[in-house]
Amino acid sequence: MIEIPTTDLALDDIRLGDIEQWMRPDREGIFAKLRAERPISFQEEPAPPPEMGIPQGPGFWALTRYDDVLHVSRDPELFHSAPTSTIGDIPPEIAEWLGSMINMDAPKHTKLRLIVNRGFTPRQVAKIEQSVRQQAKEIVDRVAPMGECDFVSEIAAALPLQIICDMMGIPRSDTKPIFEQTNVILGVGDPEYVQTLEELMAAGMGLFQYGLALAQDRLDNPRDDITTALMHAEVEDEDGVHKLTPGELGSFFLLLVVAGNETTRNAISHGMKALTDHPDQRKLWVDDFDGVSPTAVEEIVRWATPVINFRRTVARDTEIAGQPIAEGDKVVMFYNSANRDERAFPDPFHFDVARTPNEHVGFGAGGPHFCLGANLARREIRVMLEEVLRRLPDLEVTGEPDYLQSSFIHGVKRMPCAWRTVR
Ligand code: HEM
Repeated sequence: MIEIPTTDLALDDIRLGDIEQWMRPDREGIFAKLRAERPISFQEEPAPPPEMGIPQGPGFWALTRYDDVLHVSRDPELFHSAPTSTIGDIPPEIAEWLGSMINMDAPKHTKLRLIVNRGFTPRQVAKIEQSVRQQAKEIVDRVAPMGECDFVSEIAAALPLQIICDMMGIPRSDTKPIFEQTNVILGVGDPEYVQTLEELMAAGMGLFQYGLALAQDRLDNPRDDITTALMHAEVEDEDGVHKLTPGELGSFFLLLVVAGNETTRNAISHGMKALTDHPDQRKLWVDDFDGVSPTAVEEIVRWATPVINFRRTVARDTEIAGQPIAEGDKVVMFYNSANRDERAFPDPFHFDVARTPNEHVGFGAGGPHFCLGANLARREIRVMLEEVLRRLPDLEVTGEPDYLQSSFIHGVKRMPCAWRTVR
């Protein structure tokens, strides 16, 4: 049994909105203390950098226990995703444009989700699966002669973006600028990626306009890709027949490249680090890829928790685990903490590729917004790591990862790795 981490910080000194505190090495200890002693705490919001020109928000309730996270995620009528599902406020028009369905509630969310589900049917995902294997092989072929590289940019990042672009029918030549713009959006707060609100908006606008043009093109020239399927899909309800507008597809495209790209890349990178740090677990997996992969992938997502939190806004006065919460308050589900909750996971600080059951909340904690791309992400993590472990069997992470400065995305910016053997 691995001991639960601790911290010297006093409860009253814990400030989850303080990015410097957030980057402390005892972060796990801080959350363990909150779970044990103050599972629902009121926290000040991070102060947006002055150059962003956004006022500081009113603060939020931090939920750190598994059961409370589930409770909120599964009651969308009481806990709303609109106007924004991230902690900081942004004007509602921008929130919907920038975040698409992730910032919507029923009935709008339901309609949109019914349409975009068409892009993720088993048939669509099966088509992508072959290309995932092919892409992963090409990535390993390309790096194999190098002997060492940055794992994030050369291996982990190359797959998810390519897959989304292939799905949407985007040519290879357009993937690099798309990748750079998603970095800007998810890197908010890390000075390496963004300095001003203008830069953020410019990146969002670039992606949105790309999606818009793509949608218009597929309306006029249908092809065998998901953009075409989405633009021609119809859903019917009591208000009539609905189709996506090019603008809605533009916003959805923005969400998709952001949600599906960085998250999966970070899961693969954290996974490789965990496998380097836990050679016994690596051996277990390598000795039986097919048998162990399903549980190993879930454990990597639990371990990594690439999306740290999402927020809901309370629709009317309520109580969570005895704590009164007022209408309009923000509640933030800390998935990272729920995924280490001693009450839900035996020995939660043990990385266990055979963990069963493993009802982690890495893809969300249930409810209508549960990750649309979870099956695709699982496939990508499995195939990319399998290709690496089979073909570069002694690949190891050789230095400390350079982590993204963010309390929203558990990101790895760079991570050196090296190998001798190529198969
Ligand atoms: C390891 C990789 C991934 C992780 C950890 C992850 C995590 C999440 C989480 C936590 C949510 C919010 C769930 C909720 O509020 O209940 C979400 C939503 C979403 N994810 Fe993922 N995701 C991953 C990969 C992907 C991929 C590959 C795609 C698409 C290609 C994708 C598309 C989406 C979309 C569209 C939503 C919004 C769904 C809605 O609002 O109805 N994700 N994801």
